[in-house]
Amino acid sequence: MTATILVTGGTGTLGKLVVPQLTAAGYAVRVLTRRGGASGEGISHVRGDLLKNEIDLDGADIVVHLAGGAKGDALAAKNLANAAAGVRHLVHISVIGADKMPISYFREKAGAEQAIRESGVPWTILRAAQFNSLTLTVARKLAGLPIVPVPGGLRFQPVDERDVADRIVELALGDPAGAVPDIAGPSVYDVRQLVDSLQGKRRPKLPIRLPGKVGRAYRNGDNLTLTGATIGNRTWEDYLAG
Ligand SMILES: NC(=O)c1ccc[n+]([C@@H]2O[C@H](COP(=O)([O-])OP(=O)(O)OC[C@H]3O[C@@H](n4cnc5c(N)ncnc54)[C@H](OP(=O)(O)O)[C@@H]3O)[C@@H](O)[C@H]2O)c1
Repeated sequence: MTATILVTGGTGTLGKLVVPQLTAAGYAVRVLTRRGGASGEGISHVRGDLLKNEIDLDGADIVVHLAGGAKGDALAAKNLANAAAGVRHLVHISVIGADKMPISYFREKAGAEQAIRESGVPWTILRAAQFNSLTLTVARKLAGLPIVPVPGGLRFQPVDERDVADRIVELALGDPAGAVPDIAGPSVYDVRQLVDSLQGKRRPKLPIRLPGKVGRAYRNGDNLTLTGATIGNRTWEDYLAG
Protein backbone atom coordinates (compact mmCIF):
# COMPACT_ATOMS: atom_id res chain seq x y z
CA MET A 1 0.00 0.00 0.00
CA THR A 2 1.23 3.53 -0.80
CA ALA A 3 2.49 5.36 2.28
CA THR A 4 0.70 8.60 3.11
CA ILE A 5 2.56 11.76 4.01
CA LEU A 6 0.65 14.56 5.69
CA VAL A 7 2.17 17.97 5.05
CA THR A 8 1.29 21.00 7.15
CA GLY A 9 2.13 24.28 5.44
CA GLY A 10 1.80 22.53 2.08
CA THR A 11 0.18 25.70 0.67
CA GLY A 12 3.10 27.93 1.75
CA THR A 13 6.30 29.03 0.02
CA LEU A 14 8.28 25.99 1.12
CA GLY A 15 5.39 23.53 1.12
CA LYS A 16 4.46 24.26 -2.50
CA LEU A 17 7.96 23.13 -3.48
CA VAL A 18 7.94 20.05 -1.24
CA VAL A 19 4.51 18.60 -2.07
CA PRO A 20 5.09 17.92 -5.80
CA GLN A 21 8.40 16.21 -5.02
CA LEU A 22 6.68 13.87 -2.56
CA THR A 23 3.92 12.98 -5.02
CA ALA A 24 6.54 12.47 -7.76
CA ALA A 25 8.30 10.05 -5.40
CA GLY A 26 5.10 7.97 -5.35
CA TYR A 27 3.62 8.96 -2.00
CA ALA A 28 0.02 9.89 -1.34
CA VAL A 29 0.20 13.44 0.00
CA ARG A 30 -2.39 15.04 2.20
CA VAL A 31 -2.07 18.78 2.86
CA LEU A 32 -3.52 20.09 6.10
CA THR A 33 -4.70 23.64 5.49
CA ARG A 34 -7.11 26.20 6.92
CA ARG A 35 -8.16 27.21 3.40
CA GLY A 36 -8.65 23.99 1.49
CA GLY A 37 -7.31 23.50 -2.02
CA ALA A 38 -7.70 21.66 -5.28
CA SER A 39 -6.94 17.97 -5.18
CA GLY A 40 -4.91 16.34 -7.93
CA GLU A 41 -3.22 13.08 -8.69
CA GLY A 42 -1.73 11.78 -5.46
CA ILE A 43 -2.67 14.89 -3.52
CA SER A 44 -5.63 15.80 -1.36
CA HIS A 45 -6.38 18.65 1.02
CA VAL A 46 -7.86 18.30 4.47
CA ARG A 47 -9.15 21.29 6.38
CA GLY A 48 -7.60 21.86 9.77
CA ASP A 49 -6.13 24.49 12.04
CA LEU A 50 -3.15 23.62 14.19
CA LEU A 51 -3.75 26.48 16.61
CA LYS A 52 -7.37 25.45 17.16
CA ASN A 53 -6.24 21.83 17.54
CA GLU A 54 -8.35 20.84 14.54
CA ILE A 55 -6.04 18.13 13.25
CA ASP A 56 -7.00 14.92 11.48
CA LEU A 57 -3.95 12.86 10.58
CA ASP A 58 -6.15 9.92 9.57
CA GLY A 59 -3.54 7.19 9.44
CA ALA A 60 -0.67 9.19 7.91
CA ASP A 61 2.65 7.33 8.11
CA ILE A 62 4.88 10.40 7.94
CA VAL A 63 4.14 13.99 8.94
CA VAL A 64 6.10 16.89 7.47
CA HIS A 65 5.46 20.00 9.54
CA LEU A 66 6.12 23.13 7.49
CA ALA A 67 3.29 25.35 8.75
CA GLY A 68 4.31 28.51 10.53
CA GLY A 69 2.95 31.91 11.35
CA ALA A 70 3.73 35.15 13.09
CA LYS A 71 2.44 33.78 16.40
CA GLY A 72 1.78 30.49 18.13
CA ASP A 73 4.21 28.12 16.42
CA ALA A 74 5.04 26.42 19.73
CA LEU A 75 1.38 25.66 20.45
CA ALA A 76 0.79 24.56 16.87
CA ALA A 77 3.70 22.09 17.09
CA LYS A 78 2.54 20.84 20.48
CA ASN A 79 -0.96 20.16 19.15
CA LEU A 80 0.44 18.45 16.08
CA ALA A 81 2.91 16.36 18.10
CA ASN A 82 0.08 15.16 20.37
CA ALA A 83 -2.02 14.21 17.37
CA ALA A 84 0.94 12.43 15.77
CA ALA A 85 1.24 9.61 18.32
CA GLY A 86 1.88 6.44 16.31
CA VAL A 87 3.30 8.25 13.29
CA ARG A 88 6.52 6.72 11.94
CA HIS A 89 8.39 9.98 11.35
CA LEU A 90 7.71 13.64 12.16
CA VAL A 91 9.85 16.11 10.20
CA HIS A 92 9.97 19.73 11.28
CA ILE A 93 11.43 22.89 9.72
CA SER A 94 12.87 25.37 12.18
CA VAL A 95 15.11 28.40 11.97
CA ILE A 96 18.80 28.94 12.64
CA GLY A 97 19.21 30.65 16.01
CA ALA A 98 15.92 29.31 17.40
CA ASP A 99 17.55 28.70 20.77
CA LYS A 100 19.57 31.93 20.84
CA MET A 101 17.78 34.87 19.29
CA PRO A 102 15.80 36.99 21.83
CA ILE A 103 12.90 37.58 19.43
CA SER A 104 9.46 36.04 19.85
CA TYR A 105 9.44 34.33 16.40
CA PHE A 106 12.65 32.48 17.30
CA ARG A 107 11.39 31.66 20.82
CA GLU A 108 8.26 30.16 19.29
CA LYS A 109 10.42 28.06 16.99
CA ALA A 110 12.46 26.87 19.98
CA GLY A 111 9.21 25.94 21.73
CA ALA A 112 8.06 24.07 18.64
CA GLU A 113 11.32 22.12 18.52
CA GLN A 114 10.95 21.22 22.18
CA ALA A 115 7.37 20.00 21.66
CA ILE A 116 8.55 17.74 18.85
CA ARG A 117 11.60 16.42 20.73
CA GLU A 118 9.41 15.58 23.73
CA SER A 119 6.54 14.06 21.74
CA GLY A 120 7.81 10.48 21.77
CA VAL A 121 7.34 10.39 17.97
CA PRO A 122 10.54 9.65 15.99
CA TRP A 123 11.62 13.03 14.64
CA THR A 124 13.94 15.03 12.41
CA ILE A 125 14.44 18.77 12.79
CA LEU A 126 16.11 20.94 10.15
CA ARG A 127 16.95 24.56 10.95
CA ALA A 128 17.15 26.84 7.93
CA ALA A 129 18.47 30.35 7.33
CA GLN A 130 16.15 33.02 5.90
CA PHE A 131 14.80 32.01 2.51
CA ASN A 132 15.78 34.07 -0.53
CA SER A 133 12.15 35.12 -1.03
CA LEU A 134 11.89 36.55 2.48
CA THR A 135 15.31 38.20 2.20
CA LEU A 136 14.20 39.81 -1.05
CA THR A 137 11.03 41.17 0.57
CA VAL A 138 13.06 42.71 3.41
CA ALA A 139 15.76 44.07 1.09
CA ARG A 140 13.16 45.61 -1.24
CA LYS A 141 11.41 47.35 1.67
CA LEU A 142 14.70 48.81 2.84
CA ALA A 143 15.72 49.77 -0.68
CA GLY A 144 12.48 51.71 -1.07
CA LEU A 145 13.34 54.08 1.78
CA PRO A 146 14.86 57.48 0.91
CA ILE A 147 17.70 56.78 3.34
CA VAL A 148 18.50 53.13 4.04
CA PRO A 149 19.21 52.33 7.70
CA VAL A 150 22.12 49.88 7.94
CA PRO A 151 22.26 48.19 11.34
CA GLY A 152 25.91 47.40 12.06
CA GLY A 153 26.59 43.68 12.47
CA LEU A 154 23.22 42.52 11.07
CA ARG A 155 23.97 39.77 8.58
CA PHE A 156 22.02 37.14 6.64
CA GLN A 157 22.92 33.85 4.95
CA PRO A 158 19.98 33.68 2.55
CA VAL A 159 19.21 30.17 1.38
CA ASP A 160 17.16 29.25 -1.65
CA GLU A 161 13.84 27.71 -0.66
CA ARG A 162 14.27 25.17 -3.48
CA ASP A 163 17.40 23.88 -1.75
CA VAL A 164 15.55 23.72 1.55
CA ALA A 165 12.69 21.85 -0.14
CA ASP A 166 15.10 19.31 -1.65
CA ARG A 167 16.62 18.69 1.77
CA ILE A 168 13.24 18.38 3.48
CA VAL A 169 12.17 15.76 0.93
CA GLU A 170 15.42 13.85 1.40
CA LEU A 171 14.92 13.89 5.17
CA ALA A 172 11.22 12.99 5.01
CA LEU A 173 11.96 9.93 2.90
CA GLY A 174 14.82 8.82 5.16
CA ASP A 175 14.85 7.51 8.70
CA PRO A 176 14.25 9.81 11.68
CA ALA A 177 17.59 11.58 12.20
CA GLY A 178 17.08 13.95 15.15
CA ALA A 179 18.69 17.39 14.84
CA VAL A 180 20.45 17.46 11.47
CA PRO A 181 22.97 20.12 10.35
CA ASP A 182 21.45 23.51 9.62
CA ILE A 183 20.93 24.57 6.02
CA ALA A 184 22.16 28.00 4.91
CA GLY A 185 23.08 29.79 1.71
CA PRO A 186 26.58 29.87 0.24
CA SER A 187 27.42 33.45 1.37
CA VAL A 188 26.86 35.90 4.20
CA TYR A 189 25.70 39.44 3.41
CA ASP A 190 25.22 42.55 5.50
CA VAL A 191 22.28 44.86 4.91
CA ARG A 192 24.31 47.26 2.77
CA GLN A 193 25.33 44.42 0.44
CA LEU A 194 21.79 43.08 0.16
CA VAL A 195 20.30 46.47 -0.67
CA ASP A 196 23.10 47.35 -3.09
CA SER A 197 22.58 44.05 -4.88
CA LEU A 198 19.07 45.26 -5.77
CA GLN A 199 19.62 48.84 -6.74
CA GLY A 200 23.25 49.47 -7.52
CA LYS A 201 24.14 51.69 -4.55
CA ARG A 202 21.86 54.58 -5.49
CA ARG A 203 20.33 55.32 -2.09
CA PRO A 204 22.21 56.97 0.76
CA LYS A 205 22.86 54.73 3.77
CA LEU A 206 22.61 55.58 7.45
CA PRO A 207 24.64 53.33 9.74
CA ILE A 208 22.66 52.61 12.93
CA ARG A 209 23.28 50.52 16.03
CA LEU A 210 20.58 48.04 17.02
CA PRO A 211 20.12 48.46 20.76
CA GLY A 212 19.77 45.92 23.55
CA LYS A 213 19.78 42.13 23.56
CA VAL A 214 18.56 41.87 19.98
CA GLY A 215 21.37 44.06 18.70
CA ARG A 216 23.95 42.07 20.66
CA ALA A 217 22.59 38.77 19.35
CA TYR A 218 22.75 39.92 15.73
CA ARG A 219 26.24 41.41 16.16
CA ASN A 220 27.25 38.10 17.72
CA GLY A 221 25.94 36.25 14.66
CA ASP A 222 23.46 34.18 16.70
CA ASN A 223 21.19 34.01 13.63
CA LEU A 224 23.97 32.47 11.53
CA THR A 225 25.67 29.08 11.20
CA LEU A 226 29.13 29.92 9.92
CA THR A 227 30.57 26.42 10.17
CA GLY A 228 29.07 22.97 9.84
CA ALA A 229 25.95 23.91 7.87
CA THR A 230 24.66 22.15 4.79
CA ILE A 231 25.13 24.74 2.06
CA GLY A 232 22.45 25.26 -0.55
CA ASN A 233 23.51 25.16 -4.21
CA ARG A 234 21.79 28.29 -5.42
CA THR A 235 23.26 31.69 -4.60
CA TRP A 236 21.48 34.94 -3.81
CA GLU A 237 22.83 36.29 -7.12
CA ASP A 238 21.31 33.30 -8.99
CA TYR A 239 18.01 33.99 -7.30
CA LEU A 240 18.03 37.68 -8.27
CA ALA A 241 19.03 36.82 -11.83
CA GLY A 242 16.14 34.32 -12.02
N1 LIG B 1 10.60 32.05 5.25
C1 LIG B 1 11.80 31.88 5.82
O1 LIG B 1 12.75 32.63 5.56
C2 LIG B 1 12.00 30.75 6.81
C3 LIG B 1 13.26 30.50 7.33
C4 LIG B 1 13.43 29.43 8.24
C5 LIG B 1 12.34 28.69 8.62
N2 LIG B 1 11.11 28.99 8.10
C6 LIG B 1 9.96 28.21 8.51
O2 LIG B 1 9.58 27.41 7.40
C7 LIG B 1 8.17 27.17 7.45
C8 LIG B 1 7.56 27.50 6.10
O3 LIG B 1 7.78 28.87 5.84
P1 LIG B 1 7.07 29.53 4.57
O4 LIG B 1 7.78 30.81 4.35
O5 LIG B 1 6.94 28.54 3.50
O6 LIG B 1 5.63 29.84 5.18
P2 LIG B 1 4.43 30.63 4.48
O7 LIG B 1 4.64 30.78 3.03
O8 LIG B 1 4.19 31.85 5.30
O9 LIG B 1 3.19 29.64 4.68
C9 LIG B 1 2.71 29.36 5.95
C10 LIG B 1 1.98 28.05 5.89
O10 LIG B 1 1.57 27.69 7.22
C11 LIG B 1 0.22 27.27 7.17
N3 LIG B 1 -0.40 27.64 8.46
C12 LIG B 1 -0.21 28.79 9.15
N4 LIG B 1 -0.94 28.77 10.28
C13 LIG B 1 -1.60 27.57 10.30
C14 LIG B 1 -2.50 26.96 11.21
N5 LIG B 1 -2.89 27.60 12.35
N6 LIG B 1 -2.98 25.73 10.92
C15 LIG B 1 -2.60 25.10 9.78
N7 LIG B 1 -1.75 25.62 8.88
C16 LIG B 1 -1.25 26.85 9.14
C17 LIG B 1 -0.40 28.01 6.00
O11 LIG B 1 -1.46 27.21 5.49
P3 LIG B 1 -2.94 27.75 5.17
O12 LIG B 1 -2.87 29.24 5.09
O13 LIG B 1 -3.28 27.06 3.87
O14 LIG B 1 -3.77 27.25 6.31
C18 LIG B 1 0.75 28.06 5.01
O15 LIG B 1 0.77 26.90 4.21
C19 LIG B 1 7.64 27.99 8.61
O16 LIG B 1 7.55 27.18 9.75
C20 LIG B 1 8.74 29.03 8.83
O17 LIG B 1 8.78 29.52 10.16
C21 LIG B 1 10.92 29.99 7.20
